[in-house]
Amino acid sequence: MNAIELLKQDHVRIKDLLGRLTESTERAVKLRTELLEKIEQELTAHTRIEEEVLYPALRKEGDKEEAKMAYEAKEEHRAVDSLVLPDLKKTEVGSLEFSGRAKVLKELLEHHIEEEESDMFPTCEKLFDQARLDEMGQQMADIRKGMKKELKKAS
Ligand SMILES: [Fe+2]
Ligand SMILES: [Fe+2]
Repeated sequence: MNAIELLKQDHVRIKDLLGRLTESTERAVKLRTELLEKIEQELTAHTRIEEEVLYPALRKEGDKEEAKMAYEAKEEHRAVDSLVLPDLKKTEVGSLEFSGRAKVLKELLEHHIEEEESDMFPTCEKLFDQARLDEMGQQMADIRKGMKKELKKAS
């Protein structure tokens, strides 16, 4: 599968999980806990393959504007990984505060995904040919396979 298709499929899954999280009620403690765990897993894998495969290619081979796009996207990942998500994980799952923070996470990620899909991905499709996109897709699938193995070993 080519890199862009693979990443877009991730986006669909992540948006679905976020939608289910923000629609859940304060009483749905178990569901919220499960969804949050799943969202974290998906995000960890997704940001890693973008940051290890796609963004570096864009930084190296794109022009100045395109390189900037990759840096900006990485900062958005960092805001989620090091601030918004850790905060949410510390928040009492059955609280209204959790509901509010989950909504902010969803909005941030939807904005990020929208920028990638409307701006960055079309840029990549212009910059890289089909063979290269396939090759990057394969690299991403390999990284993900490795992560799954690590996860199994750890549990
Ligand atoms: Fe991203
Ligand atoms: Fe993405």
